[in-house]
Amino acid sequence: MPAHNDTATDTLLPQPLLDFLPCATPDRWVEAALANPALLLIDHAQCEKKAASTAMSLMFRYVDRPELLSKMSQLAREELLHFEQVVGLMQERGIDYSHLQASRYAEGLREHVAREEPQRLIDILIVGAFIEARSCERFARLIPHLDESLARFYRGLVRSEGRHFEDYLTLAETYAGREAVAARVARFAERERQLIESDDAVFRFHSGVPAADVMN
Ligand SMILES: [Fe+2]
Ligand SMILES: [Fe+2]
Repeated sequence: MPAHNDTATDTLLPQPLLDFLPCATPDRWVEAALANPALLLIDHAQCEKKAASTAMSLMFRYVDRPELLSKMSQLAREELLHFEQVVGLMQERGIDYSHLQASRYAEGLREHVAREEPQRLIDILIVGAFIEARSCERFARLIPHLDESLARFYRGLVRSEGRHFEDYLTLAETYAGREAVAARVARFAERERQLIESDDAVFRFHSGVPAADVMN
């Protein structure tokens, strides 16, 4: 069983998602997020944009998979809507949208993606499921500490990123079968835990535990 210890968070999150993630977000990440609200929103905007772009690149690569085309098209639209909403919140709060380098997280997971098809597609879908599930868990962890308008926004995101997690995982299971996917998920889970629990040079939405003196 994953070591989740925050009951307020757990009531927001579906059990399959909690079972899927190998660990809870460390408290020190939550502290860094609360200490860096502008950085959090800027990187969050980047993540939404990237999520839309990943979904669209799958639509270009796998034109012969109708379930994938329909799910990814819907997902890309939702991510772009989230992007617009985050940018709107940043404007309301006077936060400038500056360019940020991506965190190591998504790249760190993608290093383990098979090069050959058909495994490549399955792995990409599994990585998508991890990114969505971790985003969902982090939004839920932050909600109790946020002002009402951000909390309301993040509650909506918990629901929608939770659905995206399911979509990615269901697509992987449709194409490869549950057992094969479970075995592969276990391998990625080990890597995911390392990326989340180990020290990280920077703070980002998906970073590990940020070093106290490196927040930018
Ligand atoms: Fe999103
Ligand atoms: Fe998403």
